[in-house]
Amino acid sequence: MIHPGKALASKSLPGINAGPKGSDTSHFSIIDKDGNRVAATLSINYPFGSAFVAPGTGVLLNNEMDDFSIKPGVANVYGLVGNEANAIAPGKRPLSSMTPTFLETPDKVVVMGTPGGSRIITMVLLAALEVAAGTGNAETWVGLPRFHHQYLPDKLFYETGAFDKVTLRDLKKMGHVPFERSQYGNMQIVVRDSTSGLFYAASDPRGEGLATVQ
Ligand code: DON
Repeated sequence: MIHPGKALASKSLPGINAGPKGSDTSHFSIIDKDGNRVAATLSINYPFGSAFVAPGTGVLLNNEMDDFSIKPGVANVYGLVGNEANAIAPGKRPLSSMTPTFLETPDKVVVMGTPGGSRIITMVLLAALEVAAGTGNAETWVGLPRFHHQYLPDKLFYETGAFDKVTLRDLKKMGHVPFERSQYGNMQIVVRDSTSGLFYAASDPRGEGLATVQ
């Protein structure tokens, strides 16, 4: 809608949605009509970042420094225990779990991602495995029950209801330490079906997104 030589009337703009706002990292999944794609995960790390606004700017500073390993053996806020390889050093980028993703299969293109700290990787993997298996659709992928293991702590985190009683029993027998937790993540998926040219979109039912299958 931007015309370099002509002002755009404010009233022609769609306005601001004053709906509820999240306090987390945000993910956007976009495909335009020409097939251009964006998967973008944007983070200030903790909710409210470093909780510090640079005076006179209104800019809330992040605390991405916690994505570095502060010292070997010490966990960060997501429980990730790092080592020398992720030590703080000039010019270095910290480890990141953010996983903005494009998947291309013979019949579709899928753009996906989610916030969720260290659990982002397993959330995206669980959905990607379903895409690769050719089962489900955008709506079922964003709603998949989730589970997660990140080496340390040596626990198998799972969302309430992700495992039935028999699976839980079998996992324990195998030596896993299942640990139930509340739902997490906010996955956004857009799909372009290469055969029909149709687009489908879905937002995680755990989040505030409004997209449903089109
Ligand atoms: O880059 C990372 O892995 C973290 N800064 C992401 C933080 C995050 O997803 C927080 N959201 N819930």
